[in-house]
Amino acid sequence: MKRVILLGSTGSIGCNAIKVIKQLKNFKIVGIAGYTNHQMLITQAKDIKPKMVTIMDCQYYKNLKKDLGRIQIRCGEQGITDMVENTNADIIICAFASSIGISGIVRAIEKKMRICLATKEILVSFGDIIMDSVKKNGVELLPIDSEHSAIYQCLEGNRGNNVKSIILTASGGPFLNKSIKNVIKSDVLNHPVWKMGAKITVDSATMMNKGLEIIEAHHLFNLPAERINVVIHPEAICHSLVQFVDGTLLAQLSTPDMKLPIQYALTAPKRLYSIVKNLDIAKVKNLTFLPPNLKKFPCLKYAYDALKLGKSMPAVLNAANEETVKLFLEDKLKFSEIPNIIKKVMNKHTPKKGNIDFYLKKEEWSKQMVRSLVC
Ligand SMILES: NC(=O)c1ccc[n+]([C@@H]2O[C@H](COP(=O)([O-])OP(=O)(O)OC[C@H]3O[C@@H](n4cnc5c(N)ncnc54)[C@H](OP(=O)(O)O)[C@@H]3O)[C@@H](O)[C@H]2O)c1
Repeated sequence: MKRVILLGSTGSIGCNAIKVIKQLKNFKIVGIAGYTNHQMLITQAKDIKPKMVTIMDCQYYKNLKKDLGRIQIRCGEQGITDMVENTNADIIICAFASSIGISGIVRAIEKKMRICLATKEILVSFGDIIMDSVKKNGVELLPIDSEHSAIYQCLEGNRGNNVKSIILTASGGPFLNKSIKNVIKSDVLNHPVWKMGAKITVDSATMMNKGLEIIEAHHLFNLPAERINVVIHPEAICHSLVQFVDGTLLAQLSTPDMKLPIQYALTAPKRLYSIVKNLDIAKVKNLTFLPPNLKKFPCLKYAYDALKLGKSMPAVLNAANEETVKLFLEDKLKFSEIPNIIKKVMNKHTPKKGNIDFYLKKEEWSKQMVRSLVC
């Protein structure tokens, strides 16, 4: 039996992960964590009966304590570390919408749990440190992002030595063929393919999501920025490709449904039957691939710049993006201003190398800088 901790159980990936695990025979959820949605967390806990539950926002601790009788309740960052220390888990799924809980995740690596990673922000901000620890502890880190899962699958079987480049596919978001001037929140939150949380949906519309994925891919597959490319693929059926030195391209295709990469991250290298509808390739009429428009979507270029500059710059980019998206969702910033603010914050920063605490401080600086430029 594999015991699983699920961070971000109340989110889009978290709910899909619960559906996947319920139909897998040898997996059991022993810990769940949400951020603010205490009602959903209580409902999930009553259904799953994990050993421990953590709510990141401590103001809801009493609500959980009152409703969840014998289940152990924790709150805040320490709660994640406590779940890692006390549930005897084999696997941790990281699916918060930001890198909160990072110290618990670092502890999970030290305890040699399999890390199933949806939260790309963790690798964007702390990639070098996390990957060093993953290597040192001989830990398996499996991506849940569909693009990185696709590349991981294309590289299985020692194909990694002969890679020329990797090609991340991007659906292009809601504004692929539309102007981004004067868009309103409902246009931005209306993704044509994927139903996801608000933050990643805004990131998809600015294409910062693909930018963050470029940095994530750099850490996962140990490739420089020049060997990580992006193509627009509106059908979202080909989830990414690897080009080898002889010119051969390998790709992974499937129905666009996050339950598949979640399941593979849990069961790899085993493939098990899944609840996802199989793709009927004969019914796929078009598979389109186009170059990205960096002028219209400058966030992609800023992510390449941050990756090349390295050190603390990706953390600053990540936090500036997180804060601008938050302000946009609170109607305090126009969608079209997001890239410009991020660029201004990056221009004010001199990247330096440091530990996780140092990068967290730089993230906080970056968020404050965004607020000072907007408010
Ligand atoms: N959704 C997808 O299809 C998809 C695909 C690929 C990768 N990812 C990645 O997976 C991660 C989760 O995405 P999602 O779509 O599942 O997100 P989501 O639905 O917005 O939320 C995920 C979890 O994060 C919590 N959360 C909300 N605000 C937060 C904050 N400011 N800081 C930390 N956590 C917060 C939510 O808690 P409460 O609801 O309890 O407040 C929820 O448990 C992201 O890093 C995303 O990039 C998602």
